[in-house]
Amino acid sequence: MREWCLANTKHEGHEVARRLDSRPPEEYKHGMDLNGKVAVVTGASMGIGEQIAKIFADNGAKVVLLSRDSSRAEAARHRVGHTERTLALACDVRKHEDIERTLSLTLHHFDRLDIWVNNAGHGLLDSLANADMAAVRDTFETNLFAAVDAMQAVIPVMKQQGRGTIINISSVAGHIPVPFHAIYGGTKFAMNAIGKAARVELKAAGVHVLTVCPGYVRTDFGANAMRGSERKQVRPTSVRGIPPERVARAVLRGYRKQKREVVVPWYMHLPIKLYQLFPGVVEWAMAKMLRQRE
Ligand SMILES: NC(=O)c1ccc[n+]([C@@H]2O[C@H](COP(=O)([O-])OP(=O)(O)OC[C@H]3O[C@@H](n4cnc5c(N)ncnc54)[C@H](OP(=O)(O)O)[C@@H]3O)[C@@H](O)[C@H]2O)c1
Repeated sequence: MREWCLANTKHEGHEVARRLDSRPPEEYKHGMDLNGKVAVVTGASMGIGEQIAKIFADNGAKVVLLSRDSSRAEAARHRVGHTERTLALACDVRKHEDIERTLSLTLHHFDRLDIWVNNAGHGLLDSLANADMAAVRDTFETNLFAAVDAMQAVIPVMKQQGRGTIINISSVAGHIPVPFHAIYGGTKFAMNAIGKAARVELKAAGVHVLTVCPGYVRTDFGANAMRGSERKQVRPTSVRGIPPERVARAVLRGYRKQKREVVVPWYMHLPIKLYQLFPGVVEWAMAKMLRQRE
């Protein structure tokens, strides 16, 4: 194992970045072509994360799939295929040492890091009045603080390389506050703000930040959400949601075009714009849906 793999603290992470200079140049295509690029995807054991890992690997990237459970990550790796250039690792994004270890192992195996996708996340279904503070904190830890922690870990490496992309999987709920999803939406509003501010901070260093806002997606997200005592849905019954493959395609397009933000499906721009211009109308519609379901 090369000496820089021993880095396991944030300070040493900077040291890792410093030493990248001394590594031999490798076959690697610059630009937004994925061929030969190295990508890490958090929460890649299922759903959107697995599909992002798959589309990246299908397009020639070397991909590290993360999950809290190594066997779930390994199973997803085999579903994704291209096992000669993929890696499955256990990583609980709430633990700083897991993020540092992942970064170290990625650099050890693949010699560089081009893309880090902050995808791991879960919902919290409850009213603001009743939400358990432990659940509130866990939702912020997983959805937001872990993403910030990972960004701080990978930025020195990407700056040293002079290039890199951070992709944050946010939500339309980061644009429209949804009742009984207030805490979840809070994590995603903050993620949007942080990602977009960091994008400007990092532009001169060649590090690109993309924020992705999916609408309803057909995954186990609802089943995996934390549930409190007061759960109500404002989701229109007619909305089935898009498949996670469609989100992955949008992520790939957004990456290639170095977009600031991708909203998927595109028509979710309409309620977002409606909320910006006439928030009272959207609130009225959501209150009506809540009454109909009571
Ligand atoms: N589905 C939707 O409608 C929708 C809409 C907008 C945005 N999103 C966002 O898209 C992202 C992925 O959601 P999804 O729909 O694919 O949900 P999902 O099917 O429930 O997958 C969630 C993933 O996050 C991982 N995860 C959860 N907590 C983690 C932790 N502490 N450390 C590491 N990994 C963790 C899970 O891995 P393990 O359990 O194996 O650790 C799993 O791979 C989330 O950020 C979500 O907010 C989803």
